[in-house]
Amino acid sequence: MSQHDDKRRRLLGRLGRQLAYTAPVLALVAGGVALHDTFGEEETSPGGVAATSLLVASAHAEGAAEAEGEMEGEAEGEAEGEAEGEAEGEAEGEAEAGASDAVQRPAGYTPAYSETGENPAEMLARGVELYYDTSLSTTGLSCASCHGSDGQDMGYLSTFEQPYPHRVAMAEAQFGMAEVHADEMVQICMVAPMEADPLAWGGEALTSLAAYMVEVQRRYSGQPHDL
Ligand code: HEC
Repeated sequence: MSQHDDKRRRLLGRLGRQLAYTAPVLALVAGGVALHDTFGEEETSPGGVAATSLLVASAHAEGAAEAEGEMEGEAEGEAEGEAEGEAEGEAEGEAEAGASDAVQRPAGYTPAYSETGENPAEMLARGVELYYDTSLSTTGLSCASCHGSDGQDMGYLSTFEQPYPHRVAMAEAQFGMAEVHADEMVQICMVAPMEADPLAWGGEALTSLAAYMVEVQRRYSGQPHDL
């Protein structure tokens, strides 16, 4: 295993440990709770605690917890037996850079799908197939577990109404990314809620899932789409 792989494995492990929200998400999903897009309406609808708001609130909490951990420094890391002799500041710095490296478009990469739609029907069909594929995660989840079956979108915030690239709270809180492309968002969900390795950049799986999510975004925002 190369040093790089080893580093990435440790970083992913670290990320995985920060994903305490996975279990509640599973419970919500298993309980059939629809994730509504009510983030922007929270203040005006105090009665209904939106599941999505909870998810995002916990995504923010993860970010905060991470920052807190950084400030608390070595003591906590040692207590968890994970400091491994690294200076904590350095380790956190690596974690941040490493984490977004895995989900950010690499230099010289040209996506094989169009982010403005009009992708080939076979590509979209393959995207739908993968969207339901539980083998993509290490947790038994498929994308559909959290985002609904085709045509019944759920689990998205109002930011999903904007065309790509756009800002996503989870990407910002967990990966420090100001905005994301569709393929980067797929990678984020692969690494974070799906607790798996990122897909190969430019590979068939990432390309077709991203192309499919572009159409879902268009459907979600009331644009003409090919689904
Ligand atoms: C355990 C639940 C979970 C699973 C499984 C999951 N996601 Fe997500 N996903 C989220 C959460 C939470 C968000 C953040 C909500 C938001 O910002 O819209 C999100 C957001 C997204 C967004 C939209 C964000 C935006 O505005 O652009 C896309 C696209 C997406 N996920 C794709 C996927 C794909 C593809 C898969 C499967 C590879 C997947 N997700 C699996 C929880 C999940």
